[in-house]
Formats: sequence, C-alpha cells, structure tokens
Amino acid sequence: GNLTQDELKRVAAHRAVEFVESGMTLGLGTGSTAAHALDRLGDLLRAGALPGVAGVPTSLKTEAHAARVGIPLLPLDAASGASIRLSIDGADEVDPDLNLVKGRGGSLLREKMIEGAGDRFVVIVDESKLVPRLGCTGAVPVEVIPFGAPHTLGLIRKVFDGVPGFHARLRTVPAANGEDSDAPFLTDNGNYIVEMFFEDGIRGDLLDISDRLLRITGVIEHGMFLGMATTVIVANKDGTVTVIN
Ligand code: A5P
Repeated sequence: GNLTQDELKRVAAHRAVEFVESGMTLGLGTGSTAAHALDRLGDLLRAGALPGVAGVPTSLKTEAHAARVGIPLLPLDAASGASIRLSIDGADEVDPDLNLVKGRGGSLLREKMIEGAGDRFVVIVDESKLVPRLGCTGAVPVEVIPFGAPHTLGLIRKVFDGVPGFHARLRTVPAANGEDSDAPFLTDNGNYIVEMFFEDGIRGDLLDISDRLLRITGVIEHGMFLGMATTVIVANKDGTVTVIN
C-alpha cells in the first residue's frame, strides 16, 4: 500500500541515520522530518550502538527532543567540542541544483550556522518538497531584528521592486480562533520573521538576491540555503528512496 507523508519522512530520516558513525558530532535538524532522525538516533544510542555520538541542536525544540531521547548535546563551538562531521535536516523546498528553502518552522538562523559549519549536510525530504524553482510552494522566510522591522520589511520589498506577484509580510502567530493575530512570531533568538511570497518561484540569480538581502542592515539571515546541501535523500511516493549527491 501507499505510505503516508509522515511514513515517507521517516523512511528518508532512517536512511540518513545510516551515515552516522561512532564518535561523530552531528548537527541536529528541526522539523517533522528531522524529528524522525532524532528518534532513530536515540533508539540506536540507547541500545549502545554509535558510542561517542553527540549532537548540536538547531533549535530549542530539537534541544528538548534530543535530550528526551538521550542524545548527548554540545554547543556550537569547535573549540570546546569536536567539529561537526554531519548534519541531518529536512527542508521546505529542494530545487534541481540542491538549493533549499528552509525555516518555515522558524529555525533558519541556527540551522544555517550549524549546517554551514559541518563537513557534510544531508537533507531528508519526501518527494513533495522537490520544486523547479525556490519559492514555488510557499513563503521564503527572512529573520530580521525586531527594531525597525517595518522599515526592514520596506527595504526587503525594494529588492523585489517590479517583480510581478511578489509580496512580503511580517509573520504573526495565529490567534486562539485560528485567525491571524497581530502578535509577531518570535524566533528562538528573539527576532522576527518576514515571509516573502513569489507568484511562481524566485527567478534570477539566487546568489545575487541573497547578497542583496544580506546587505540590508536589519536582516540577520534568510531561508535560502544555497550550495549547502551535500546529499539529498528523497523518499518517493512508492516507498523507494533516491539519494542525490
Ligand atoms: C525549520 O525551521 C525548517 O527549516 C525545517 O527544517 C523545514 O521546515 C522542514 O520541516 P518539515 O520536515 O517539518 O517539513
């Protein structure tokens, strides 16, 4: 029978955990797919497999989850721990060049710091995350400092001046009745998120667009992960797995 989307996420996650070797320090991703990798790692560690493995969590949520399943934790600091050999994380979108959109869960800054610091970054997705162009299926998040956030939002909009269908807004938390509220979503770092929307994905030179966003002083980081993934593990609808390097 057909696997559910959550089962596909687990298939991809378990395949990625096969790359983990004893003694490795890992970057631990955030989200529903990465959660399956944490559970699997925890099972293996508690069974005594993979001695010496420890993880650097990419969010407070992952930190709590990893602690709960018995994964030893380290801070992001190569000087005080071993350097990160391998990171495992999900993604919101993967394009044909293995560029990613991440951070629809809000954890993009710590994810980019940790996954960019490691030797190898294995991305785990179900087939639905594969897109022809980044920004096709939803928001591209940008972490901004709360001070002057409306001003920064205006500067972000200017980068995409004249792009048909582009719009951007501050991410808010849903109110109790499910409607949008006015309360800004707060990241683990106490910052805000601007969500950028593109009619049919981002067209143009992604590195150039990245540079222009990062040059805005109130912008801290964005959710385009360009040239970072070293491997993408895709769980296909029929239950088969494709590994792209
Ligand atoms: C967290 O901020 C994100 O970058 C996640 O890694 C990404 O949203 C994938 O999450 P799912 O595995 O839940 O789709």
